[in-house]
This record gives sequence, structure tokens and C-alpha cells, in this order.
Amino acid sequence: MRFVSPHAWGLQWRLRLQTSITLLEEHFGLEKEAIVANAPGRVNLIGEHTDYNGGYVLPFAIDRFTSVALRPRTDRHMHIYAAAFDETFEASLPFDSASPTGTWRDYPIGILLELKRQANLSFGFDAIITGNVPLGAGLSSSASLEVALALSLSKLYGIELEDLELVKLCQHAENEFVGTQSGIMDQYASLLAHDRSAILLNTTSLEHRYIPLELGDMALLVVNSGVQRELASSGYNDRRRECQEALRLLQEAMPEQKMRALSDLGLDDLPQLEHTMPETLMMRARHVVEENERVLEMVNALEHDDLRTAGKLLFASHASLRDLFQVSTKELDFLVDWGRAHGALGARLVGGGFGGATLHLVGQNQAADYAQKIAVAYRKTFGLTATTIEVRPSPGARARATKKISH
Ligand code: GLA
Repeated sequence: MRFVSPHAWGLQWRLRLQTSITLLEEHFGLEKEAIVANAPGRVNLIGEHTDYNGGYVLPFAIDRFTSVALRPRTDRHMHIYAAAFDETFEASLPFDSASPTGTWRDYPIGILLELKRQANLSFGFDAIITGNVPLGAGLSSSASLEVALALSLSKLYGIELEDLELVKLCQHAENEFVGTQSGIMDQYASLLAHDRSAILLNTTSLEHRYIPLELGDMALLVVNSGVQRELASSGYNDRRRECQEALRLLQEAMPEQKMRALSDLGLDDLPQLEHTMPETLMMRARHVVEENERVLEMVNALEHDDLRTAGKLLFASHASLRDLFQVSTKELDFLVDWGRAHGALGARLVGGGFGGATLHLVGQNQAADYAQKIAVAYRKTFGLTATTIEVRPSPGARARATKKISH
């Protein structure tokens, strides 16, 4: 059931009904074949802020994509049209150097700078970016853009990349050029997700296992608070620094333990930590350790079809993100509390926090009513629009070359 049409997400993706190829033709003319890559956004079921602490995460890809369609040019120019902003970025390749602009242009520049280390970008291209992943909603619109760009451009320049190399290349572009110190989860999920499954990823070993996500008569809804957050400028990097500092203090206090990451700690270690670090850092570390444990409990619950326990874990995760990691907002708390009071089995904020969306586990037959009523309550309280979509675990990113386009 789709009870909220894609355009309910607003005007961000204003040309969404046209495929990227149609747009490519419209903007840059027909001719030759095109390379098209589609990369999905993701929802993280549980395991928030654990991926840069060596812990577990359990994301799944959603059926919302960023799409890049491109064609080579015979000169060195590149033209990239971003439908969401109705803007074209023009430059000449290869870049010698570039500085971040704080706009969407940083993603193609960051990815091209990474690819330039592997190949001589001796010719230019025309490209179109379209998609329907809501921006700034905690659904990884950025990672899906990076993965779609890296897949299509590596194909264009004949650069062979293993899956993990491509994931790391995208993460590196985001960390080094865009300026968000994000972990590896989002790019990993966008590329490697499987239909009807979540990925249990160990972010220390980078090994993963697919966990079937069959919900029976339940549905997963994403309710967007409409309050956008920009990771690069939010408290995300601060949280990452705090975790590094907590780790450094622990390594100093307990050198014999040879800790590599906060996720090396277990629940039993928590009482001893109190004397090693200030209270705020202690709260951050406690969240990471307990959230890591919740991921494994969630896997166990899913493997036993125990959605009640799964729901409780979602609520517990939210409480920890609100009280210990302190990345929630009053809008996100409202949506989660509303869910608890109106029959959701579980709900929590998804992604980095500081705005964005919440995930709700509700009965399928209750979903349409739930979406409508939560929007009414939210508007009454904040005067803002909360839009809801149902999300389903979907396959990861793919690139293909189209046949010659004839007219
Ligand atoms: C953002 C980052 C991820 C992860 C989450 C929080 O989505 O990109 O790497 O850290 O926040 O779990």
C-alpha cells in the first residue's frame, strides 16, 4: 500500500516524474548510449552512531533512489544538471584542486577527486541527477548520490572497483571533501543491500550477513519531521569527536585492554568507566555499548518473529539517542511519543538525528489512519507538515548502459 504519493515529500525533486534519461535527452540532446546508475537511500533499523565506533548496524535499503544518467563528451567539459535544484554545474576536467562549496556540487567534485587518483579523466561528460530520496531526512540522500555517481563515473572511465573499494571511496569523498565524518553504514547499505532483508554489518571487520525482514501484517513507516538537518554543520562531527575522546581516555586508563574502539566494551564494563571520564563522555560511551547490544537483540528478535520485542528495542534506542547521546529534537520526540500512545509497537529517530525522520512499526491495516492522524497532531503542535511513507527493504544500487537511444 502506498498511501502517501511521492510528491507529498514536497517540491524538492520537482522533476521526479521524468526519468533521468528523458532529462538527459532534454538537456543535452539525443545521440549515443547513456550510463545510468540508481542507488537507494536507506533506513537503519537499529544501531545508531555505532558505525564510527566499530559496532554493529542493521540498515536496509528503501525503494527511493538517486539516479545519475551520463554520457561522454569529446571535449574536457562536464555539465551536471541537478533536477532537485534546477541547477547546472559546469567545469573542465581534470580538476587540479577544488574547495568545498557547501552545496550539492561537493558530491560530484568529491567523487571525481577520488576517481582521479585511479585514472586520467581525459574527457568530459554530460550528466543528470534525479531522484526521490527526501533530502535531509536521515534517509541517506547523500550516500545514495555518492554511490550513484561513483558507479556511473567509474563505468564511464573504465575504472574497475570492488564493492568495498567503491563504498570506501564514497565514504572518503564524504569525510575528506564534503566534510562530514560519517561512518561507513550508509554507502555500504546503498550498494550492498538485498531485497526483503536488512544487513547486519560489523563495522570493525566489515563482514556482513543478511537478516530476512519479513513483517507479516506489520508495516514500517517513515514519518518525516520536515525539519531538515545538514550533517556537516550539525552536532554530528561533535559527537564523533566526543566518542574519540572517550576512547582515548579509556585507552589511557586501561592500557592493558588494548581497546581499538568503544564497541570493544561490553555491558559488564560500564560500571568501571565512571571514574575514567567526564559524565557527558560517559553518556556517549554508554549509548554506544548498549545500542550495540540492542542490534544483536534485534537480530535475535527478528529471527524468532518476535516483533513485540523488536518494537521495544526501537523505543529503547530512541530513549538512548534522546537522553544519552542527545541527538533528538522536540519534534522527533513528539512523533515517537505519539506513536507509543497510539498503538505503534516501536518507534525511533533514524539516521544521525538533529532533525530528519522517525521510523514506526505499526499494523498494516492501521497504517493509513496512523499517517493521517499523526500529521494532524503534529501540525497542531508545531504548525509543521509531517509526511509519511511506507518503506520496504529493497535491493542495492545498480548501473547499466542503455541501448542506443533512437527517435
Ligand atoms: C549518519 C552517518 C552514518 C551513521 C549515522 C548514525 O547517517 O552518515 O555513518 O553514523 O548517521 O548512525
